[in-house]
This record gives sequence, C-alpha cells and structure tokens, in this order.
Amino acid sequence: MIKKINFPYSSNYSFYLADEIDSTNTYFKNNYNEYSDNSVLIALKQTNGRGRYNRRWESDNDLIFSILKKENDNYQIIIPLAITLALKNYDINTLIKWPNDIYLNNLKLSGILIEDVYLNKFISSIIGIGINYSDKPNVLGIGLNKDIDKYDLINQILNKIDYLTNLDFKLVMDLYKEYSFVIGKNIIYKGKEYYVLDIDTNGHLIIKNDKEILNINSDEINIKEAMIWK
Ligand code: BTN
Repeated sequence: MIKKINFPYSSNYSFYLADEIDSTNTYFKNNYNEYSDNSVLIALKQTNGRGRYNRRWESDNDLIFSILKKENDNYQIIIPLAITLALKNYDINTLIKWPNDIYLNNLKLSGILIEDVYLNKFISSIIGIGINYSDKPNVLGIGLNKDIDKYDLINQILNKIDYLTNLDFKLVMDLYKEYSFVIGKNIIYKGKEYYVLDIDTNGHLIIKNDKEILNINSDEINIKEAMIWK
C-alpha cells in the first residue's frame, strides 16, 4: 500500500511511502498518470528492485526512492552530481563513475536508474536512486553510516537537483567533471583498453587508445584498477 506522507521538510515535492513494493521505478512507470510532477516515492523494502542493464538491485539496507519528473532535463548528469554534492554536506566525498554511479573509496555506494516515458513525445522521467545505507559492507561493499537521517539526505538531494536544474549547463558539466572518477583513468570498453581523455559538453565520454579516439554516449565501462561490484 502506498500512502502520502508529510515530509519533515518544506518542499515543492509530494512524498509517498510504500512499506514494501516490487520496484519504485516500475510503480511510477505504470502509474505516472496519477501522480504530479515532482512526486517522490520512498520504499522501505523492494522485492524486485531493478538496476541498469536489466540487473537486479538487491537492497537490504538501502535508501530506495524514485522521483517522477514531467519536464525533461539532463538527469544522467544532474542526478549523480546532486547526490555527490548532497553527500559533501556530511563530509562524505564521493566520485562519479560515468555515466551515473557513485563511488566511495573505490566501491560503489549508489546506483541510479533513469527511465523515460515517451508516447510520441516526452511524457516523464522516472529517476530511481538506491543508496547503500548500512555500515556493514553488503554486496556493493560499502555503506553510509546509518546515523545520517534518511529524510534529511533525501531533502539535501532534492535541493541540489533543483539548484542544478536552474544552473547554466556548462557550469553543471564543469562541476560534474570536477567529481569524475574516470577522467585520466584506464578503462575497459567493449573488451578493449582505453584511456579517458575527457567528458564533452554533452556529457559524452572521450576515450582513446593507440588506434582510435571514441566519443561514447551512454554505455558500460569498467575502470581497470577499481573493484566493480555490479
Ligand atoms: C544501477 O546501479 O544499476 C541502478 C540501480 C538503481 C536502483 C534504484 S532503487 C530505487 C529504484 N527502483 C528500482 O527498481 N531501481 C531504482
């Protein structure tokens, strides 16, 4: 059952809570018509959490929520940056593994699944966020200290999303690059090794090896020296 909740912070978002749900993203995908722009669905437990590339998202201790947006924006860039900036307020220094995973000390702390609904034209973006929230290492290897109030963290993330949505995109990209975990690293892309030169103004990754320079849009890369859990 999904109930509307009074969020402890004033905000232009509407908040809903599910004690248990298959997936907050799936729910918004099936019910976006019944919810307004800036609705946030928080789940205490997900039974069929989904990650990128049809993977499962196991979330025993995670902070799990999805945001419904009815205006399109460059959320692949804005959301990981918003989480990174929000965590900085707690002195937690994370980096962004392009395009949108959050790493803390070489291990994945948070994953983001953004799913757009198009019916001839853009209808909605569903932004799903999972943040590992246990100080016991789980499958992702790492978690936030549970003393951090979950609602306070959601509030900080939403404030940063609003701030970045209104900021000139060039400045957003500069900030995103400042927190990049991949620029200057060797990566594996489609089975071959490349060096990451830069991220361009569209958020594409520019990679090179001795044979080619590629500009890639959204795909999976692995960092050579980092431990990748998912
Ligand atoms: C990934 O790293 O592959 C993305 C993981 C995204 C998980 C979140 S948890 C809330 C929302 N609901 C889902 O089913 N998935 C996202």
